[in-house]
Amino acid sequence: SPPVHAAQRVSSPVVIGHRGVPARAPENTLASIDRAAKLGVRWVENDVQRTKDGALIVMHDTTLARTTDVEQRYPDRAPWKVSDFTLAEIQKLDAGSWYAPRFAGERVPTLSSYLRRVDRNRQKLLLEVKAPELYPGIERQILAELDRTGWLDRRHVDGRLVVQSFDAASLRTVHQLRPDVKTGFLGAPKPSELRSYAAFADQINPSYKSVTEAWVRSVHALKGPHGRRLEVSAWTVDDGDDAVSLARKGVDGIISNAPHEVAAALAED
Ligand code: G3P
Ligand code: CA
Repeated sequence: SPPVHAAQRVSSPVVIGHRGVPARAPENTLASIDRAAKLGVRWVENDVQRTKDGALIVMHDTTLARTTDVEQRYPDRAPWKVSDFTLAEIQKLDAGSWYAPRFAGERVPTLSSYLRRVDRNRQKLLLEVKAPELYPGIERQILAELDRTGWLDRRHVDGRLVVQSFDAASLRTVHQLRPDVKTGFLGAPKPSELRSYAAFADQINPSYKSVTEAWVRSVHALKGPHGRRLEVSAWTVDDGDDAVSLARKGVDGIISNAPHEVAAALAED
């Protein structure tokens, strides 16, 4: 076999577009994942929540105020919680103008339309169950939607979907309901606590500021529920030098608002 050179030994981390490519298009919209696709970004991250009438939508904040025109459209309904609005009401909102006039008319995606678009773009998905304490039973509902749209087909589930959450109980529920789905715990547990997460999480995904080489090594020393080495994806990394430094610490993934720039920095290193 050919000799392995030092530069080939460390594989470059996978780069994941955080809420799409918010450096170029409004977060968590179809425009944002399309822009990611055009820039060659193969993995996108999103956040899933539930409307008043039980529909799953893609939205980061637990209120609609920052990323839509809800305050103008429904001035009397402060604090504009996602769970206080029906899907029909939310679909009337403009989720693009706040970002730039050329995105006027962009909508808050349903999870279903988002999954179809990621699929059509041949992208891979890091799906975050956001604030599950507000939405009892949302894990089962998200898995049902993934199943209905073909994301859980045996041929497809491996290698193109990870479900992550800050909420360990929620993630354990996802793992118990569908052990075939890869999962990621958001946080940076102490090395002594990592083993308990390895029972239900394939990834441990920390804020990049807390990552040390030693910590990555202690995560990598453990096997996850599928018998594979635990992985680390760090967030949210927008600076090329930070990305290169994380790659040298051994992380497997980098979640970024400017994934195209981070990928270019890693390629140059
Ligand atoms: O993917 C990790 C990151 O998204 C977690 O934080 O607040 O952006 O959802 P947040
Ligand atoms: Ca997120």
